[in-house]
Amino acid sequence: MPTLLVTGGAGFIGANFVRFWRERHPADGVVVLDALTYAGNPANLDGVDGVELVHGDIRDQALVEKLLAERDADTLVHFAAESHVDRSILGPDAFIDTNVIGTHSLLKAARNVWLDKGSGRPHRFHHISTDEVYGTLGPADPAFHEDTPYAPNSPYSASKAASDHIVRAYHHTYGLQVTTSNCSNNYGPYQFPEKLIPLFLLNALEGRPLPIYGDGMQVRDWLHVEDHCLGISLILESDAAGECFNIGGGAELPNITVIDTLCAAVDDAFAADAGLARRFPQAPAANGKASASLKTYVTDRPGHDRRYAIDERRISARLGYKPGRDFATGLQQTIRWYLDNEGWWRAVQNGSYRAWMERNYTGRQGRIA
Ligand code: NAD
Ligand code: DAU
Repeated sequence: MPTLLVTGGAGFIGANFVRFWRERHPADGVVVLDALTYAGNPANLDGVDGVELVHGDIRDQALVEKLLAERDADTLVHFAAESHVDRSILGPDAFIDTNVIGTHSLLKAARNVWLDKGSGRPHRFHHISTDEVYGTLGPADPAFHEDTPYAPNSPYSASKAASDHIVRAYHHTYGLQVTTSNCSNNYGPYQFPEKLIPLFLLNALEGRPLPIYGDGMQVRDWLHVEDHCLGISLILESDAAGECFNIGGGAELPNITVIDTLCAAVDDAFAADAGLARRFPQAPAANGKASASLKTYVTDRPGHDRRYAIDERRISARLGYKPGRDFATGLQQTIRWYLDNEGWWRAVQNGSYRAWMERNYTGRQGRIA
């Protein structure tokens, strides 16, 4: 029975991946290693059976070696990271520590257990990275492809770029069986409300300003998290060791369009369901106003990348990847998920999930070491 070690599996994309994988491969073992930083939340794995949650740090090489060896893991899927650009501008150190040093520590552990200790077993180290490593595009530039030169602009993207290079070197030098994916902006269930879509949605529900950086004309490609998980699983199931793949959502949009679409969808949801006005009395939509009335232009993010776009021809042609939904549908589903899971985001907002997690998860779903 294959066993996966999933780092950062209590975060947004990692938890969605664990859910995705368990549904499709119920016989596989899944061990999640997560430091449970502010972004890690065991409730993201609520209701998923057969997952062992180990509370630990990817920089703890001995722990990772022990998990790989004792759980007989043959696949490591590496999501753990500091992931928010704004935080990296305020405090870059954690990004170097986790994203660079942490990734190298994992590689050393994997090399030790899978190569040096002579097991020689088939294995895979899949590294999750970002399109931000390629830098920024002008309006008419071709989309990022796998051979676009790296030009990271923020401490976050520079730390991810560094980790990508180290992963590559472990394949080239030591023969570690690695793959890397560089994806665009994810959205969907369980996303921590510091990122654009969940932040603006919850602000619209609670009547807080929607802070638009600069002119709001920055362009991102929006990828539903389940489509991202599909892309990762296609790579894991391929024999593509040593290769990199871009994964996109085929939805390149200026921020202002995303924000206006989200505001209109919130207004429509309130119009269709009178109960929402009772649940969220501070929302403009509960008081005869448009959610867009909360839009507030604020000082731009320092070094803000203007445009990202993904050329995903390699993963489409080689592995048959195709996003399963358009942005309008994915956004509607995401808004519905947040409306239906108010308990999840209230607990995240007030931090109470930590105490609740200790009561509910120790010894049941897994191990809080
Ligand atoms: P997230 O911030 O929601 O989750 C990160 C997880 O990593 C959390 O559970 C956290 O507790 C854990 N973690 C952090 N430091 C750790 C450490 N030292 N040891 C163990 N666990 C640790 O991030 P996300 O949005 O789910 O992103 C996951 C990965 O995908 C990251 O590598 C990120 O760079 C990459 N990525 C994200 C996006 C996006 O749009 N969110 C897009 C492209 C790439
Ligand atoms: O492109 C992939 C990257 O996407 C990932 O590697 C990162 O982990 C992920 O955080 C995301 O980075 P962005 O900086 O693009 O995402 P964020 O949600 O922070 O911002 C999206 C856009 O919205 C960006 O142009 C900045 C803008 N924005 C964001 C926030 C939080 C605002 O205008 N106001 C805001 O309050």
